[in-house]
Amino acid sequence: MRTPLVAANWKMNGSREFAERFFTDLDLEGVISGVVVCPPFPYLSLAAQAAQDKGGFVVGGQNLSQEPAGAFTGEVSAGMLLDWNTHYVIVGHSERRSLYLESNELVAGKFVAAQAAGLIPILCVGETLEEREQGRTLEVVAEQMAAVRNRIDSSAWKDAVVAYEPVWAIGTGKTATPEEAQSVHEFIRAQLGDIGAEVQILYGGSVKSANASALFAQVDIDGALVGGASLDAKEFAAICRAAV
Ligand code: PGA
Repeated sequence: MRTPLVAANWKMNGSREFAERFFTDLDLEGVISGVVVCPPFPYLSLAAQAAQDKGGFVVGGQNLSQEPAGAFTGEVSAGMLLDWNTHYVIVGHSERRSLYLESNELVAGKFVAAQAAGLIPILCVGETLEEREQGRTLEVVAEQMAAVRNRIDSSAWKDAVVAYEPVWAIGTGKTATPEEAQSVHEFIRAQLGDIGAEVQILYGGSVKSANASALFAQVDIDGALVGGASLDAKEFAAICRAAV
């Protein structure tokens, strides 16, 4: 059985004061899913301290370099994330792919670097509205997955999480219907081969407490990667509570 997982992606939001208040307010009583909070880098140590003090969640990074060290100004390595007591790291978020031109190959390099250091990558895949309208959703997702598959043994998927995030649903208030999401999740699981049954596949894109239960009721949706709604500790906890 796969344990459900809910991850918060704060993106470039928050402040020191916000982070302190969030962790004070975060009440995970009754939550049975795994919980990951991915704040911006400067708040990772504060988040890791809160995780140690409160329990019930672990910390993730939002990005990493594919390189282990060197002259890469502004980058953060997998080893540095580990020094911050980080367990997970998001790779290939659509904002990184579109705004920072991260290719499928670069994302695959980050996935490999994360795993090599002992971090669990949360690999984001998903199509744009244009690609969906052209009927290319599965082709795009398959290409994004294949770039990683070409670099790893298939057994490595069990130390990874996949997040299906249709780009048109991110931050727009438009969620894929549970059935639309389920059909892509089923496809992703099939792409993972024999090990697919063991891999957590999260849905992301305008998840809130009001739509979480219907999404989580789908057989291949194992949890969520939550952006906007993860900035409210109560709302985020309600989403976590919906994951069973
Ligand atoms: P959203 O973002 O929940 O605000 O749509 C999800 C994500 O980008 O991970």
